Amino acid sequence: MSVCLRWVVEGGGCEGGRCCCSAESAPPAGRGLAVVRAPAAYTCLAEDYDRLLGPLAEKTWRLGVLAEVAGLDLAAGATVVDLGAGTGIGGRLMPTAVAEAYRIGVDGAAAMLERACVWYERTVLADVRELPVETASAALVVAGFDTLNYLDAVGLARCLRGVSRCLAPGGWLVFDYSSPELLRGAWRDRGQVEELPGGSMSWRHRFEPVGQRCVSTVERRDGAGELLWRERHVQYALDVYDLHVAAVVAGLRVERVRNLHREQFSPAAHTHVWTLHKQVR
Ligand SMILES: C[S@@+](CC[C@H](N)C(=O)[O-])C[C@H]1O[C@@H](n2cnc3c(N)ncnc32)[C@H](O)[C@@H]1O
Repeated sequence: MSVCLRWVVEGGGCEGGRCCCSAESAPPAGRGLAVVRAPAAYTCLAEDYDRLLGPLAEKTWRLGVLAEVAGLDLAAGATVVDLGAGTGIGGRLMPTAVAEAYRIGVDGAAAMLERACVWYERTVLADVRELPVETASAALVVAGFDTLNYLDAVGLARCLRGVSRCLAPGGWLVFDYSSPELLRGAWRDRGQVEELPGGSMSWRHRFEPVGQRCVSTVERRDGAGELLWRERHVQYALDVYDLHVAAVVAGLRVERVRNLHREQFSPAAHTHVWTLHKQVR
Protein backbone atom coordinates (compact mmCIF):
# COMPACT_ATOMS: atom_id res chain seq x y z
CA MET A 1 0.00 0.00 0.00
CA SER A 2 1.41 3.41 -0.86
CA VAL A 3 1.32 6.10 1.81
CA CYS A 4 0.29 9.63 0.90
CA LEU A 5 2.32 12.20 2.81
CA ARG A 6 1.37 15.74 3.71
CA TRP A 7 4.30 17.99 4.58
CA VAL A 8 3.57 20.02 7.67
CA VAL A 9 6.74 22.02 8.36
CA GLU A 10 9.26 22.66 5.61
CA GLY A 11 12.61 24.09 6.66
CA GLY A 12 11.06 25.03 10.00
CA GLY A 13 12.60 24.95 13.41
CA CYS A 14 11.57 25.32 16.98
CA GLU A 15 9.02 27.86 18.09
CA GLY A 16 9.60 29.92 21.17
CA GLY A 17 12.72 27.94 22.03
CA ARG A 18 10.70 24.77 22.44
CA CYS A 19 10.98 21.79 20.16
CA CYS A 20 8.02 21.71 17.81
CA CYS A 21 8.17 17.99 17.13
CA SER A 22 6.04 16.70 19.99
CA ALA A 23 3.01 14.73 18.89
CA GLU A 24 0.67 17.34 20.43
CA SER A 25 2.01 20.18 18.28
CA ALA A 26 1.29 18.49 14.95
CA PRO A 27 -1.76 19.85 13.13
CA PRO A 28 -4.57 17.35 12.57
CA ALA A 29 -4.20 15.19 9.51
CA GLY A 30 -6.39 15.75 6.51
CA ARG A 31 -8.67 12.93 5.44
CA GLY A 32 -6.63 10.06 4.05
CA LEU A 33 -3.32 11.84 4.52
CA ALA A 34 -0.57 10.91 6.95
CA VAL A 35 0.93 13.92 8.71
CA VAL A 36 4.69 14.01 8.44
CA ARG A 37 6.90 16.66 9.98
CA ALA A 38 9.83 17.74 7.80
CA PRO A 39 11.72 20.34 9.82
CA ALA A 40 15.26 21.64 9.63
CA ALA A 41 18.05 19.22 10.56
CA TYR A 42 18.40 18.49 14.29
CA THR A 43 14.91 19.69 15.20
CA CYS A 44 13.15 16.36 15.68
CA LEU A 45 16.34 14.28 15.88
CA ALA A 46 17.26 16.23 19.04
CA GLU A 47 14.90 14.10 21.10
CA ASP A 48 16.69 10.83 20.26
CA TYR A 49 20.16 12.26 19.67
CA ASP A 50 21.88 11.34 22.95
CA ARG A 51 20.42 7.85 23.06
CA LEU A 52 21.18 7.09 19.44
CA LEU A 53 24.40 8.98 18.69
CA GLY A 54 25.66 9.95 22.16
CA PRO A 55 28.05 6.99 22.71
CA LEU A 56 29.64 7.35 19.25
CA ALA A 57 29.90 11.13 19.65
CA GLU A 58 31.58 10.74 23.05
CA LYS A 59 34.06 8.19 21.68
CA THR A 60 34.87 10.53 18.78
CA TRP A 61 35.45 13.46 21.15
CA ARG A 62 37.76 11.40 23.39
CA LEU A 63 39.82 9.94 20.52
CA GLY A 64 39.94 13.17 18.56
CA VAL A 65 39.42 16.72 19.82
CA LEU A 66 39.97 16.04 23.53
CA ALA A 67 43.15 14.03 22.98
CA GLU A 68 44.60 16.88 20.91
CA VAL A 69 43.47 19.57 23.35
CA ALA A 70 44.98 17.73 26.32
CA GLY A 71 48.38 18.05 24.61
CA LEU A 72 48.04 21.83 24.21
CA ASP A 73 48.43 22.44 27.93
CA LEU A 74 45.94 25.30 28.13
CA ALA A 75 45.69 27.35 31.30
CA ALA A 76 42.95 26.54 33.80
CA GLY A 77 39.90 28.71 33.29
CA ALA A 78 40.60 29.24 29.57
CA THR A 79 37.67 30.31 27.41
CA VAL A 80 36.60 27.53 25.06
CA VAL A 81 34.01 27.98 22.30
CA ASP A 82 32.24 24.81 21.09
CA LEU A 83 30.89 25.21 17.53
CA GLY A 84 27.77 23.11 16.89
CA ALA A 85 27.54 22.29 20.59
CA GLY A 86 24.45 20.13 19.98
CA THR A 87 23.15 18.57 23.19
CA GLY A 88 26.38 19.43 25.02
CA ILE A 89 28.53 16.31 24.82
CA GLY A 90 31.69 18.38 24.16
CA GLY A 91 30.84 20.79 26.98
CA ARG A 92 30.33 17.93 29.41
CA LEU A 93 33.69 16.35 28.52
CA MET A 94 35.78 19.53 28.12
CA PRO A 95 36.91 19.74 31.78
CA THR A 96 38.83 16.47 31.25
CA ALA A 97 41.13 18.39 28.86
CA VAL A 98 40.92 22.01 30.13
CA ALA A 99 40.50 22.47 33.88
CA GLU A 100 37.73 24.87 34.87
CA ALA A 101 37.17 25.83 31.22
CA TYR A 102 34.79 28.73 30.64
CA ARG A 103 32.63 27.01 28.03
CA ILE A 104 30.57 28.81 25.38
CA GLY A 105 28.33 26.52 23.33
CA VAL A 106 27.09 27.77 19.95
CA ASP A 107 24.49 25.97 17.86
CA GLY A 108 21.88 26.85 15.27
CA ALA A 109 19.30 24.27 16.39
CA ALA A 110 17.27 25.42 19.39
CA ALA A 111 16.02 21.89 20.09
CA MET A 112 19.61 20.67 20.50
CA LEU A 113 20.93 23.66 22.42
CA GLU A 114 18.15 23.67 24.99
CA ARG A 115 19.44 20.26 26.11
CA ALA A 116 23.02 21.61 26.34
CA CYS A 117 22.66 24.60 28.68
CA VAL A 118 23.68 22.67 31.76
CA TRP A 119 27.12 21.87 30.26
CA TYR A 120 28.17 25.43 29.34
CA GLU A 121 28.71 28.67 31.19
CA ARG A 122 27.03 30.36 28.20
CA THR A 123 25.05 29.10 25.21
CA VAL A 124 24.41 31.09 22.03
CA LEU A 125 21.76 30.20 19.46
CA ALA A 126 23.51 31.23 16.26
CA ASP A 127 24.89 30.18 12.92
CA VAL A 128 28.59 29.32 13.23
CA ARG A 129 29.16 31.08 9.90
CA GLU A 130 28.42 34.35 11.72
CA LEU A 131 30.11 33.69 15.02
CA PRO A 132 28.78 36.12 17.64
CA VAL A 133 31.70 35.79 20.05
CA GLU A 134 33.90 38.67 21.18
CA THR A 135 37.07 39.42 19.21
CA ALA A 136 40.29 37.86 20.58
CA SER A 137 38.38 36.40 23.55
CA ALA A 138 38.95 32.63 23.22
CA ALA A 139 41.99 30.47 23.88
CA LEU A 140 40.41 27.52 22.12
CA VAL A 141 37.62 26.84 19.63
CA VAL A 142 36.46 23.26 19.11
CA ALA A 143 33.98 21.48 16.85
CA GLY A 144 33.24 17.83 17.49
CA PHE A 145 31.48 14.97 15.79
CA ASP A 146 31.65 16.26 12.24
CA THR A 147 29.91 19.58 12.85
CA LEU A 148 32.00 21.52 10.31
CA ASN A 149 30.96 19.05 7.59
CA TYR A 150 27.60 20.84 7.60
CA LEU A 151 29.26 23.87 5.98
CA ASP A 152 29.97 24.15 2.26
CA ALA A 153 33.26 25.66 1.08
CA VAL A 154 31.96 29.23 1.30
CA GLY A 155 30.35 28.66 4.70
CA LEU A 156 33.44 26.97 6.07
CA ALA A 157 35.67 29.83 4.88
CA ARG A 158 33.36 32.30 6.65
CA CYS A 159 33.36 30.19 9.79
CA LEU A 160 37.16 29.97 9.81
CA ARG A 161 37.45 33.74 9.44
CA GLY A 162 35.08 34.16 12.39
CA VAL A 163 37.06 31.67 14.47
CA SER A 164 40.31 33.48 13.63
CA ARG A 165 38.75 36.76 14.79
CA CYS A 166 37.48 35.27 18.07
CA LEU A 167 40.74 33.56 18.96
CA ALA A 168 43.29 35.40 21.04
CA PRO A 169 46.77 35.41 19.45
CA GLY A 170 48.30 31.99 20.09
CA GLY A 171 44.85 30.40 20.31
CA TRP A 172 43.83 27.06 18.82
CA LEU A 173 41.07 25.56 16.69
CA VAL A 174 40.68 21.78 17.01
CA PHE A 175 37.98 19.84 15.16
CA ASP A 176 37.19 16.45 13.71
CA TYR A 177 36.03 16.27 10.12
CA SER A 178 34.55 13.51 7.97
CA SER A 179 36.82 12.79 5.03
CA PRO A 180 36.00 12.87 1.31
CA GLU A 181 36.49 9.10 1.48
CA LEU A 182 33.53 8.75 3.86
CA LEU A 183 31.15 11.06 2.00
CA ARG A 184 32.10 10.20 -1.58
CA GLY A 185 32.98 6.55 -0.98
CA ALA A 186 31.38 4.77 1.98
CA TRP A 187 28.26 6.96 1.94
CA ARG A 188 27.97 7.14 -1.85
CA ASP A 189 24.72 5.18 -1.58
CA ARG A 190 24.08 3.58 1.76
CA GLY A 191 21.16 2.93 4.08
CA GLN A 192 20.75 1.58 7.58
CA VAL A 193 17.86 1.03 9.98
CA GLU A 194 18.07 1.05 13.77
CA GLU A 195 15.37 -0.37 15.98
CA LEU A 196 14.35 1.96 18.81
CA PRO A 197 11.85 1.63 21.63
CA GLY A 198 8.48 2.29 20.00
CA GLY A 199 9.71 2.13 16.42
CA SER A 200 12.77 2.66 14.28
CA MET A 201 15.07 5.26 12.78
CA SER A 202 16.51 4.95 9.30
CA TRP A 203 19.36 6.78 7.57
CA ARG A 204 19.85 6.97 3.81
CA HIS A 205 23.08 8.56 2.58
CA ARG A 206 23.55 9.61 -1.04
CA PHE A 207 26.50 11.50 -2.46
CA GLU A 208 25.53 14.03 -5.14
CA PRO A 209 28.46 14.58 -7.53
CA VAL A 210 26.95 17.77 -8.98
CA GLY A 211 26.81 19.61 -5.66
CA GLN A 212 29.77 17.64 -4.24
CA ARG A 213 27.66 16.99 -1.15
CA CYS A 214 26.16 14.09 0.73
CA VAL A 215 22.43 14.27 1.39
CA SER A 216 21.26 12.07 4.25
CA THR A 217 17.59 11.44 4.90
CA VAL A 218 16.70 10.54 8.47
CA GLU A 219 13.28 9.01 9.07
CA ARG A 220 11.57 8.15 12.34
CA ARG A 221 8.79 5.57 12.26
CA ASP A 222 6.46 4.31 14.97
CA GLY A 223 5.99 0.65 15.91
CA ALA A 224 3.44 0.20 13.11
CA GLY A 225 5.89 1.53 10.53
CA GLU A 226 4.11 4.88 10.08
CA LEU A 227 6.41 7.78 9.25
CA LEU A 228 6.49 10.31 12.13
CA TRP A 229 9.03 12.78 10.79
CA ARG A 230 11.78 13.12 8.25
CA GLU A 231 14.88 15.33 8.31
CA ARG A 232 17.35 16.08 5.57
CA HIS A 233 21.02 16.55 6.50
CA VAL A 234 23.46 17.96 3.94
CA GLN A 235 27.19 17.51 4.47
CA TYR A 236 30.36 18.44 2.61
CA ALA A 237 33.96 17.26 2.82
CA LEU A 238 36.65 19.55 1.47
CA ASP A 239 39.89 18.02 0.28
CA VAL A 240 42.82 18.42 2.62
CA TYR A 241 44.54 20.98 0.40
CA ASP A 242 41.39 23.11 0.01
CA LEU A 243 40.81 23.07 3.75
CA HIS A 244 44.45 23.98 4.36
CA VAL A 245 44.12 26.97 1.99
CA ALA A 246 40.88 28.12 3.64
CA ALA A 247 42.61 28.00 7.03
CA VAL A 248 45.64 29.97 5.84
CA VAL A 249 43.46 32.61 4.18
CA ALA A 250 41.60 32.98 7.49
CA GLY A 251 44.88 33.57 9.33
CA LEU A 252 45.24 30.10 10.86
CA ARG A 253 48.18 27.74 10.44
CA VAL A 254 47.56 24.02 10.08
CA GLU A 255 49.78 22.41 12.74
CA ARG A 256 48.60 18.85 12.39
CA VAL A 257 46.07 16.58 10.62
CA ARG A 258 45.74 12.97 11.69
CA ASN A 259 43.34 10.05 11.45
CA LEU A 260 40.86 9.75 14.30
CA HIS A 261 42.20 6.33 15.25
CA ARG A 262 45.94 6.80 14.80
CA GLU A 263 48.76 9.30 14.94
CA GLN A 264 49.33 9.22 11.19
CA PHE A 265 47.34 10.76 8.33
CA SER A 266 45.80 8.65 5.60
CA PRO A 267 43.29 9.85 2.99
CA ALA A 268 41.53 6.50 3.41
CA ALA A 269 40.44 7.32 6.98
CA HIS A 270 36.78 8.24 7.50
CA THR A 271 37.50 10.95 10.06
CA HIS A 272 40.47 13.30 10.48
CA VAL A 273 41.39 15.50 13.42
CA TRP A 274 42.65 19.00 12.57
CA THR A 275 44.69 21.25 14.84
CA LEU A 276 45.04 24.88 13.72
CA HIS A 277 46.96 27.67 15.41
CA LYS A 278 46.47 31.43 15.36
CA GLN A 279 49.90 32.94 15.11
CA VAL A 280 51.21 35.43 17.67
CA ARG A 281 52.20 38.47 15.60
C1 LIG B 1 26.58 16.05 14.30
S1 LIG B 1 25.91 17.24 15.37
C2 LIG B 1 27.21 17.35 16.58
C3 LIG B 1 26.73 17.91 17.89
C4 LIG B 1 27.77 17.92 19.00
N1 LIG B 1 28.96 18.65 18.60
C5 LIG B 1 28.14 16.50 19.42
O1 LIG B 1 29.32 16.19 19.48
O2 LIG B 1 27.25 15.73 19.73
C6 LIG B 1 26.08 18.74 14.43
C7 LIG B 1 25.57 19.98 15.16
O3 LIG B 1 25.96 21.12 14.41
C8 LIG B 1 24.89 22.03 14.37
N2 LIG B 1 25.05 22.87 13.17
C9 LIG B 1 25.14 22.44 11.88
N3 LIG B 1 25.31 23.49 11.07
C10 LIG B 1 25.32 24.60 11.85
C11 LIG B 1 25.46 25.99 11.59
N4 LIG B 1 25.64 26.47 10.34
N5 LIG B 1 25.42 26.85 12.63
C12 LIG B 1 25.25 26.39 13.89
N6 LIG B 1 25.12 25.09 14.20
C13 LIG B 1 25.15 24.20 13.19
C14 LIG B 1 23.65 21.19 14.35
O4 LIG B 1 22.52 21.89 14.79
C15 LIG B 1 24.07 20.04 15.30
O5 LIG B 1 23.70 20.31 16.62
